[in-house]
Amino acid sequence: MVYLKIKRQDESREWYDTFDIEQTPGMTVLEALFYVQEHMDGSLCFRYACRGAVCGSCGMLINRVPRLACRTQVGIAKKENTREGSGDIFVAGQKSESGEENEEILIEPLPNLKVIRDLIVDMDSFYNLVDSIKPWISSPEEHPEGGNLMDPDMRGKIEKYTNCILCACCHGSCPVAARDDTYLSPATLAKAWRMHLDPREDDASRQERLDFVDSESGVWGCDLVYKCVAVCPKKVPPTLGIKALREQIEKKKEN
Ligand code: SF4
Ligand code: FES
Repeated sequence: MVYLKIKRQDESREWYDTFDIEQTPGMTVLEALFYVQEHMDGSLCFRYACRGAVCGSCGMLINRVPRLACRTQVGIAKKENTREGSGDIFVAGQKSESGEENEEILIEPLPNLKVIRDLIVDMDSFYNLVDSIKPWISSPEEHPEGGNLMDPDMRGKIEKYTNCILCACCHGSCPVAARDDTYLSPATLAKAWRMHLDPREDDASRQERLDFVDSESGVWGCDLVYKCVAVCPKKVPPTLGIKALREQIEKKKEN
């Protein structure tokens, strides 16, 4: 058995419901939520699409750790302390102070985003932040014959950042996003660095983006606590991108 303690929310109230379900081998938290929805409470709302850590829609807090429900095994999560009552956000594998283990899993919506209902958050504000840095290549009018060939080393550097699936787990873990809703967010700044690195981008657009993130809502707002790196399910390192952007900005100002 496993006990799922799930935060519920509608327009007028917030509460927790606990469901005890039969754990099956290899069961993920997403599958456990389906079990609840199909057999115990059809009103439970959560978001998913791919069930395979690709779409980024099932991000939620599991034992106070932002992670993908489809990627998180019930067997592992139920051995952790739920950290119930803690206002802190943790990273997976980090032991709670008491070091206790139990049979319960605490499931809550991602922080730093408005809750629409139960575990569904409004992603619009997050997507708007990402869009604000114009995360696309400014296409030259003439396309080179034979396409744009890229140096394999550069492709490797960029690839680390292109793996982002916009799940907002980093945003949910970020202490700066928690206190400042104008902060561009780790994912946005990681994407800004990805676009900056891309040799296909034109210099004017690269400079415009660099000027845009040169602010307290941008790279200078980051506390460098690396939580976003620790929770990212796709191993994107937003803090490294932020530090690299800071270096670029400083270098430009020196010249
Ligand atoms: S950087 Fe990682 S945690 Fe953040 S949105 Fe992208 S995939 Fe999710
Ligand atoms: S359902 Fe797509 S990432 Fe989890």
